[in-house]
Amino acid sequence: MNLTTKDEILSRFLNAKNEPISGQQLADEFGISRTAIWKHLQTLQDEGYTFETIKKKGYLLTTTPDRVDPARISSYLETARLGHTIQYFEDITSTQTIAHELVRNGARDGTVVVAESQSAGKGRMARPWESTKGKGIWMTIIIRPNVLPHQAPQFTLIAAVAVVNAIKSLHKSINPEIKWPNDILIDGKKCTGILTEMIAEMDGVQALLIGIGINVNQQKEDFPEELQNIATSLSIEANEKLNRAELIATTLKYLEKYIDLYLQVGFEPIKTLWEEFSGTIGKRIKATTLREVVEGIAIGITSDGVLEVKVDDGEIKRIYSADIEIEKPI
Ligand code: BTN
Repeated sequence: MNLTTKDEILSRFLNAKNEPISGQQLADEFGISRTAIWKHLQTLQDEGYTFETIKKKGYLLTTTPDRVDPARISSYLETARLGHTIQYFEDITSTQTIAHELVRNGARDGTVVVAESQSAGKGRMARPWESTKGKGIWMTIIIRPNVLPHQAPQFTLIAAVAVVNAIKSLHKSINPEIKWPNDILIDGKKCTGILTEMIAEMDGVQALLIGIGINVNQQKEDFPEELQNIATSLSIEANEKLNRAELIATTLKYLEKYIDLYLQVGFEPIKTLWEEFSGTIGKRIKATTLREVVEGIAIGITSDGVLEVKVDDGEIKRIYSADIEIEKPI
């Protein structure tokens, strides 16, 4: 992990399990003066952490603010590559925009950009993405797989499978479903969007930027009025406040697992998982593409992640990019 000294000190406290740590011990461990340690603790206090001074024992971490800073994410991290470099921001325009800059500057595979809030969060089809401060997961994962440009869309499907698995493994009461190609819904309301962008040459992908937005701890009134009936958060569905840092680390764990599986054996196992989690396959849908509106039964995805729809005259149409409405049975 590329933690700063301040984050390393924080990690030490997060792992100390309610035990005080003396200033001298920290100074010895980090090879810096006690004054320098004290200054780092001051900065952490400015960020909302609080420490109690216990006589003859040292400092005890007493309040941990709800932040998705690198130290908190790394305390849950179980990956070999993803999330070992984390760029954290309180407020930025968009994690995608920052990720593009980082790629230009040679960011390594697995670098994660995460923010508490985005002022210009980007959705698919140039739509804005609502990113309320401190309530959701707004992150972009930079990966540099050795694949061809036409394989890029499959990574959106891999990411969807990873997020569903992460949510299900941490919160058994929530039942997320994937809506083709990349929305995750709970009871028909959207809780997650995924936007994959590619930087490529003709003969290969330089980097993929997998942007994941998860509504985690919003309450209904946190959403703008026009979203209140179509969006939801994991907290609304689970009826409790959730740990965002843990969910980030768990998502990265599954994402790494499924990327590795895909690179080793191909798309088939991802397709099986995707279809298992899908709320689209087998349903009657209306797909609005740039050229036409296609209505019919969604029968599956191809090995390229393309949606196949059987229209009423029996013809099977392939949908590459569209907005999908799942029609409710009358
Ligand atoms: C969609 O469903 O339209 C995709 C939404 C993707 C939102 C995420 S939030 C983190 C990353 N940064 C962005 O600006 N967008 C993606």
